[in-house]
Amino acid sequence: MKMTLPEVSGDIAFVTGAASGKRFATGFGLALSKELVSRGASVIMTDINEDGCKKAAAEINEKAGKNAVIAVKADTTCFEDQVAAYELGKETFGRVDYFFANAGIGEHHWIPLFDPTTSSSRPITKPNMTTLDVTLNGQLNTASLAFQVFERQEPNTRTGFRGKLVITSSIIGIWPCKGLPMYSTAKAGVVSFMRTMAGYYGDKAITVNLIAPNITATSVVPPRFLALFDDDYVCPLELVIEQMISVLGSCKDNGRAICISGKETWDHTQHDAMFEKNRVQFEKMEYEFGKWMGLWE
Ligand SMILES: NC(=O)c1ccc[n+]([C@@H]2O[C@H](COP(=O)([O-])OP(=O)(O)OC[C@H]3O[C@@H](n4cnc5c(N)ncnc54)[C@H](O)[C@@H]3O)[C@@H](O)[C@H]2O)c1
Repeated sequence: MKMTLPEVSGDIAFVTGAASGKRFATGFGLALSKELVSRGASVIMTDINEDGCKKAAAEINEKAGKNAVIAVKADTTCFEDQVAAYELGKETFGRVDYFFANAGIGEHHWIPLFDPTTSSSRPITKPNMTTLDVTLNGQLNTASLAFQVFERQEPNTRTGFRGKLVITSSIIGIWPCKGLPMYSTAKAGVVSFMRTMAGYYGDKAITVNLIAPNITATSVVPPRFLALFDDDYVCPLELVIEQMISVLGSCKDNGRAICISGKETWDHTQHDAMFEKNRVQFEKMEYEFGKWMGLWE
């Protein structure tokens, strides 16, 4: 049964990775942009793929019969690109209610494969951090922009929120995948990031949530992999988009890691083994560190 989703009509979203890759007609960013527009929102569509983003935006605007979206080339690893995209979006639509830190790429080998028979004849190599640069740091760039924008704007008069950040993690951030160590690291990194930020911004009319989908038919996944899995393991794209939208509008949810596998959804909660025993001291440590860092008094 379809869930009732929050009202987003008149709201403005900033989406990274909105062009979507080349292997499939749509990825999360494009499907999300279309769905938001169909619900009356406007979207600043950003992507490193300028042509793809502009083409997708033109199609959306033609179907909508108005300029519901703008397309801006922005590499998430370049903070200045993202700020410039925001400035253009603000000039066009006035504000940004939702930031979607969505763009990500797959695994790049970070160090040469383990091979003791040849290792002594090879120089020790600097790690290749490309996956982390885009999939972790790129998303943190978007988040850092989001928080500073939310801080500078009044709450939306309809929803009461300054703004909402939604991060695209992955089920691989919850269940580490040995075949994809850097991708697992990036996707797990944003889970802790989301929880710390949700804790800090929760009383400031800002929410931070995250979706962690299992494999979905988009371009980030080589098509031959999709054929290996049962239908009830692969996520329907519509369900992923529905979950992204479920935390928008007047929804008060904050700090959720929404997992999706096949057609099932559930919340991943913080690991709590031994936590009760240590809670009082841990919370004291958390408070003291935050005070030391000037986050609170
Ligand atoms: N498809 C899946 O199975 C799956 C599952 C879990 C999470 N995800 C995550 O979903 C997010 C969206 O990916 P998708 O599945 O829609 O794939 P996709 O390849 O269709 O979309 C990714 C988009 O990001 C853009 N991009 C890549 N590097 C960029 C950069 N540096 N700056 C700006 N844009 C950049 C690409 O051009 C592309 O449009 C990613 O973070 C991905 O890791 C995907």
